[in-house]
Amino acid sequence: MRKDSAFNGSVSPTKGGFSSAALTYLYPSCLEIKRFFFAVCFMVSLLMIFFLIHPYDSSSSLRRCIQPSPSGRALLNPTQPKKPPSFPPTIEKLAPLDPNKRSFKAYGKAAALFVQMGAYRGGPLTFSVVGLSSKPLHDFAKPYYKCEWVPASNSSRPIKANKAFKMLPDWGYGHVYTVVVVNCTFAENPNSDNAGGKLVVYAYYGDSRGADYERFVALEEAAGEFDASKYSPPYKYDILYCGSSLYGDLNADRVREWMAYHAFVFGPKSHFVFHDAGGVSPAVRAVLEPWVRAGRATVQDIRDQAMYDGYYYNQFLVVNDCLHRHRHAANWTFFFDVDEYIHVMEGRTLESVLDGFKDYTQFTIEQNTMSSSMCVRHRARNHSSQWGFEKLVFQQTTRPPGHKDRKYAIQARNAYATGVHMSENIMGKSLHRTESKIRYYHYHNSINVMGEPCRDFLPMPKRGKGIRHKGRSYVYDGTLKALARTVKDFEKRLIRSSRA
Ligand SMILES: *[C@@H]1O[C@H](CO)[C@@H](O)[C@H](O)[C@H]1NC(C)=O
Ligand SMILES: *[C@@H]1O[C@H](CO)[C@@H](O)[C@H](O)[C@H]1NC(C)=O
Ligand SMILES: *[C@@H]1O[C@H](CO)[C@@H](O)[C@H](O)[C@H]1NC(C)=O
Ligand SMILES: *[C@@H]1O[C@H](CO)[C@@H](O)[C@H](O)[C@H]1NC(C)=O
Repeated sequence: MRKDSAFNGSVSPTKGGFSSAALTYLYPSCLEIKRFFFAVCFMVSLLMIFFLIHPYDSSSSLRRCIQPSPSGRALLNPTQPKKPPSFPPTIEKLAPLDPNKRSFKAYGKAAALFVQMGAYRGGPLTFSVVGLSSKPLHDFAKPYYKCEWVPASNSSRPIKANKAFKMLPDWGYGHVYTVVVVNCTFAENPNSDNAGGKLVVYAYYGDSRGADYERFVALEEAAGEFDASKYSPPYKYDILYCGSSLYGDLNADRVREWMAYHAFVFGPKSHFVFHDAGGVSPAVRAVLEPWVRAGRATVQDIRDQAMYDGYYYNQFLVVNDCLHRHRHAANWTFFFDVDEYIHVMEGRTLESVLDGFKDYTQFTIEQNTMSSSMCVRHRARNHSSQWGFEKLVFQQTTRPPGHKDRKYAIQARNAYATGVHMSENIMGKSLHRTESKIRYYHYHNSINVMGEPCRDFLPMPKRGKGIRHKGRSYVYDGTLKALARTVKDFEKRLIRSSRA
């Protein structure tokens, strides 16, 4: 067994060898003295039997007995060979010391081989396992994966999957950890009798290290749980929103407005999944709560992601988990941020636009860059009761660097992994020329401004004329402002909000 051979000699015997019972023997009561001697005699005889049975291999057997739980330990010495170490501590004393022989002592834990966030069935034949893995390992040792189905009924034999493939959707952005999506696909439905079973993953440390691996149960299916109808249309929703990690101080008013706007624009058959990486303060939670209760939104608590250093609050991990968790929940899955507003161009409906895109697996969306501080100066008007997209009405026409940042939507059933700006692991075509049909308004960082966003007041530009401010050109764009009344009424109707 691999676990046995993984020993690397860095644990002292006293740590795992003696139980807490040994400690109580340090301070025995009178009555316990007798029991103590009895126990000592017993242990001595046990040891004698033990050494008689294992006269030669005693040291390594002993080490096996005292080896602590193997989880997370194998990386202590990632380059350790599989054979028992050539300089076990007990032999070291006997062998003549070579003054030129250097040893390397490892302390602490390095990044884990695999940190699972989710595992999901993606269809009758296929599963995906989403997680993090040590980036240096993927850089140099090339870990790989195998999948197996272990049926719950003991009459059936385990079924091996076709060669699993891994995707690294944040490649180049990863930090200590990189995101890994493992695709396990079987030749036939491994749970065809619907008696249940387990998806087991073998994660190998690297291709040069032979059979060294970790085995874990990624997913369990209960008897009767498999339901083929879940994996083909019609789906529950038209649109699913997968938000990336929410962190920092978020303005609850802006979150409220964003939610109401998109619940309206995406229609009644839409659902919103948020990921709270510390950004959902009590105030933000309060504005989302009515939508959660109405079944329109879900807030996932992902605060524990902070223990694993990945790219920006592990947003690549989060979007891939969301993709696979809801792969068959909706016709289209949208990926964008909470300071961005999807807008369907004049004279079209979202339904007709999406219907026109249905032969594409993915389409990307171009941005309209909005000022997050410029508002129209009114002599008597007080802006504070207006919503953000109602008063931030200046669109920047000088293209800022990064204006090409696109957001996107995919038909998730044809995607294997995803990114932040688009997916590169899909089956089917991508469409980019969408700007005459759908766009998004980007109020960069407006979500992080607490209090009043209007900080620069400008005169209303003459019809069709631009305006310059701090070296940039803007035009007046009241497109979303025109929807404010409707969205507010919609919100009031739907969740009976008390705010104006
Ligand atoms: C499966 O295993 C369980 C417990 O190990 C046993 O009770 C049961 O009879 C077994 N069933 C078959 C079909 O072998
Ligand atoms: C979703 O797909 C179903 C069936 O394919 C279709 O009837 C429906 O109109 C689609 N909805 C949208 C918004 O495209
Ligand atoms: C704007 O109105 C709000 C109440 O609606 C008030 O609290 C605030 O002081 C007013 N601001 C100005 C500059 O008049
Ligand atoms: C895994 O990859 C296969 C193509 O090899 C694809 O058909 C399947 O949908 C993928 N599964 C998931 C869950 O992404």
